[in-house]
Amino acid sequence: MGGVTDREADSTRPAGAEVPFDLASMRKQYRAEGLAEPELAATPVEQFARWFKQAATDGGLFEPNAMVVSTADAEGRPSSRTVLLKHFDEQGFVFYTNYDSRKARELDANPYVSLLFPWHPMARQVVVTGVARRTGRDETAAYFRTRPHGSQLGAWASVQSSVVPGRGALDSAYAELAARYPEGEQVPVPPHWGGFRVVPGSVEFWQGRENRLHDRLRYVAEGGGGWRVERLSP
Ligand SMILES: Cc1cc2nc3c(=O)[nH]c(=O)nc-3n(C[C@H](O)[C@H](O)[C@H](O)COP(=O)(O)O)c2cc1C
Repeated sequence: MGGVTDREADSTRPAGAEVPFDLASMRKQYRAEGLAEPELAATPVEQFARWFKQAATDGGLFEPNAMVVSTADAEGRPSSRTVLLKHFDEQGFVFYTNYDSRKARELDANPYVSLLFPWHPMARQVVVTGVARRTGRDETAAYFRTRPHGSQLGAWASVQSSVVPGRGALDSAYAELAARYPEGEQVPVPPHWGGFRVVPGSVEFWQGRENRLHDRLRYVAEGGGGWRVERLSP
């Protein structure tokens, strides 16, 4: 197995850290129907809506609205994490988070962002690049009210991205809040919590095909609200 060879080559690796699978030989052949220029929608958001519907109905995905958000700090150092897409329309793609979190601090310093939808069971991937702006407080409040009571308390209890001394600190912060705001009582919207709307500058639709000759069609924003579509080599 590759892992044994790797370990022999790397005497610094601790015993027991061998790769448990033969990763080099793990690959799937994608047999999906292709994606061709004539069938594309007029805007990337319309095209996204078509693919999202398929992903959400028969895509075999646990959470089709889960996406990887990548940000970079002011020095260009990147970081990524999964968040849930909560809304999309021609104005952009919206997610909610803690404004004191690492991602939010990075977006405040550098609003350029990438969103990646890893729809692996469908041999599909959508990659959005754009600029993130905070949503308005009314929009944030309207969404916050739709969250389950426990999630509302959780938004208060977590100082997201900060180091905590242990699980107990989180549980006791939550218990205090649960005592202050029992079920049925309105939880105020935390001032440090809210949405980001990503206004797309490009959206790439990737469809896996046979022999690694995948289809990659990318919409690129042009002035005046129009879009140019280009095909990228796989
Ligand atoms: C499936 C999934 C969905 C998630 N959804 C969100 C979300 O909508 N908002 C959020 O702030 N964190 C969400 N998280 C947690 C983030 O991945 C991350 O741990 C957290 O936001 C802190 O990120 P940061 O320290 O890089 O800012 C989710 C994690 C997973 C695995």
